[in-house]
Amino acid sequence: MRNLPCSLVILVLLTQASDAKPLTYALPDETATLRPGPGVETARDICASCHSVDYINTQPPGRGSEFWEAEVKKMIKSYHAPISEADAKTITDYLAKTY
Ligand code: HEC
Repeated sequence: MRNLPCSLVILVLLTQASDAKPLTYALPDETATLRPGPGVETARDICASCHSVDYINTQPPGRGSEFWEAEVKKMIKSYHAPISEADAKTITDYLAKTY
């Protein structure tokens, strides 16, 4: 019986935890858009899934394929973006040509 107050506290905590409702919220619409070009759909689908495409739009122009290749690799390696090799190449080519 000495443990009763303690059990009650645990019971109350457990009950509160199970009352938690899932948090739902609506994301704001993406207003930034990518420039048109071959591969833009792939880039939009994949590169806009974690952050705004403004991250791409605000890069200085003409950075070239080496920069974009490294950037796409960084998204995959450092940030674990699930991008296939084929898509990575499509996106790198698109970015190098269009930005
Ligand atoms: C898995 C999530 C994820 C995906 C998918 C993703 N990124 Fe990122 N990206 C990040 C994170 C995290 C940062 C760093 C954010 C910060 O520093 O505020 C970032 C930053 C950037 C930056 C800013 C410069 C830098 O290096 O920090 C650029 C440019 C960029 N991403 C381009 C891309 C491109 C192009 C793609 C599509 C191939 C892409 N991202 C897909 C997570 C992602």
